[in-house]
Amino acid sequence: MPRLTLWPIPLTLLILGTLYLLARQHDILPSSSSPWLSSPPNQQHHPPPPPHHPPPPSGHHTNDDVYVPPPPLPLPDSRLNLTLAGNELRYQAAVRERRELIEKFGGKGAVAFPDPYAASYTLWDLYQPVFSCPWPVYRVGTMGDGGKWVCGLHRATHHTPHTKRPCVVYSMGVEKQSSFEQEVLHQGEGCEVFGFDFSVREWGPELRADTAVNSRAHFFPYKIGATDRHDVTPKEYSLQGIMKELGHEFIDIWKIDIEGSEFNALRAVLESFKGKPLPFGQMQIEIHLNFGPSYIKTIGQFDDWWTMLEDAGLRAFWTELNLLDVNVIRRGPFVGEWSFINIRGRHPLIDDSLPEY
Ligand SMILES: *[C@@H]1O[C@H](CO)[C@@H](O)[C@H](O)[C@H]1NC(C)=O
Repeated sequence: MPRLTLWPIPLTLLILGTLYLLARQHDILPSSSSPWLSSPPNQQHHPPPPPHHPPPPSGHHTNDDVYVPPPPLPLPDSRLNLTLAGNELRYQAAVRERRELIEKFGGKGAVAFPDPYAASYTLWDLYQPVFSCPWPVYRVGTMGDGGKWVCGLHRATHHTPHTKRPCVVYSMGVEKQSSFEQEVLHQGEGCEVFGFDFSVREWGPELRADTAVNSRAHFFPYKIGATDRHDVTPKEYSLQGIMKELGHEFIDIWKIDIEGSEFNALRAVLESFKGKPLPFGQMQIEIHLNFGPSYIKTIGQFDDWWTMLEDAGLRAFWTELNLLDVNVIRRGPFVGEWSFINIRGRHPLIDDSLPEY
């Protein structure tokens, strides 16, 4: 019986195994990258275009044998940047869908809240908190009316060791209770809260009674609006004017609850920045559609104002209808809490150069 030659078998297996691994690697690489970032399919079937720049030179030795390091390669993008970019793609898709739906419902002149059985939509259907806050989202303050949804409370209030600036919270419209401000002061031990309200004279009772934190709460009976007019009563300040007077370069959290005056007030504030990044990281605003000086009747009236917020770099990341208003007045729902993140400028919620903390 002839002796079998066995030695080629392991070698063949080794070669086949290597080929298999190589093939696998080339198959998997394209599909593991993000679908948002992969190049359009038609480009994948053609040879890549000639590079515009020569590839970066690697390090080399000169004649004098001095080592010259290669120029730094661009850093890979961070998880925060990729999350923000993906959020923005989704947000813009939602804006396009909104435009189509407004046309479907009858255009900008269509009523915001149709009569019973007249149509199957309400204004709120068109506005969704599509931008996901890239940090934990917590409800801050009392349950029910008064609490607000906040993006990255810790990130927004503990940045001072990294940014070298204080944590600043503004609150417009203090009204009768201050549970939100009180909790922000407890959670952000280094924060100062500045309240502005010309309709009341002081903070709500829970904050006045809380001596552990109320030395960091400051109240001003001012109106924040378009202009700086300090000779009138109540004194009127622009946002830039009050920030300059108090020595603030940035507001980490801006809460607004001014009973229907938010339409005119925000228009004035945003117009005064003329397209420059707004100086706050996030905005918690209660939107009152059917009372106060601006009674919203049509989709277009609201959409113009909302689009102005978006054009200024604000993106809704959370909402909660105010059901207390629905139940007490038996109408609506015309009042909603909305939380926005500012995606422009540089601040802890969107700055990936700050460490995790
Ligand atoms: C993330 O985006 C910011 C702003 O565009 C940019 O300055 C930064 O370099 C980016 N980070 C990385 C790691 O590429």
